[in-house]
Amino acid sequence: MEHFSEFPLSDAFHFIEPGPAILLVTSQDGKPNVMTLSWSVLIDFDPIIGCVLSPGDFSYETLKKTKECVIAVPCVDLLEKTVQIGNCSGAAIDKFAAFDLTALTAEVVKPPLMKEALANIECVVIDASLANKYGLFVMRGVKAWFDRKKTDKRTFHAVGDGTFIVDGETINLKRLMTKWEQFI
Ligand SMILES: Cc1cc2nc3c(=O)[nH]c(=O)nc-3n(C[C@H](O)[C@H](O)[C@H](O)COP(=O)(O)O)c2cc1C
Repeated sequence: MEHFSEFPLSDAFHFIEPGPAILLVTSQDGKPNVMTLSWSVLIDFDPIIGCVLSPGDFSYETLKKTKECVIAVPCVDLLEKTVQIGNCSGAAIDKFAAFDLTALTAEVVKPPLMKEALANIECVVIDASLANKYGLFVMRGVKAWFDRKKTDKRTFHAVGDGTFIVDGETINLKRLMTKWEQFI
């Protein structure tokens, strides 16, 4: 992979743990699509990630059918585009073309990576049993990519009604952490 360096899957949770707004890339018949998603949850370190998609989203049907996606983690430079991506549908437009996004071939799944993102996590859906009831798709990350060259690595959180909190200072409190044996 020319643009991204691979990083350990076991580190992928660092990008999800703070709950940043993410871009969920799917593809159907070779055509990629992307939606904005703030309702994600980290379920395990593997990583296992839960994402809630509305059945009204074009991506919902695609994900149900193809069971594959890429979670692209945007930085603050993509904030405005992230809002725009979440306010139109792939049923009507080609969002990669409309928002000048670059699709890079992923290694394991069919949906592409997004070159403009800080990190890309290739995922397969492992449980869609609550998709009808809650829109919940549980997926496992199978490959993870990171853009080491990005200088401003701040992600952002959606807090509703078009407002966002951009990441601030990083504080290291490792000295206060309890060491749980199962995680060492
Ligand atoms: C900041 C933001 C956060 C969003 N979070 C979610 C979400 O968690 N789940 C969801 O189903 N839709 C969410 N949306 C809406 C979808 O991104 C939107 O419906 C999108 O147009 C769906 O695209 P698609 O039809 O191409 O799949 C969000 C939109 C924005 C702007």
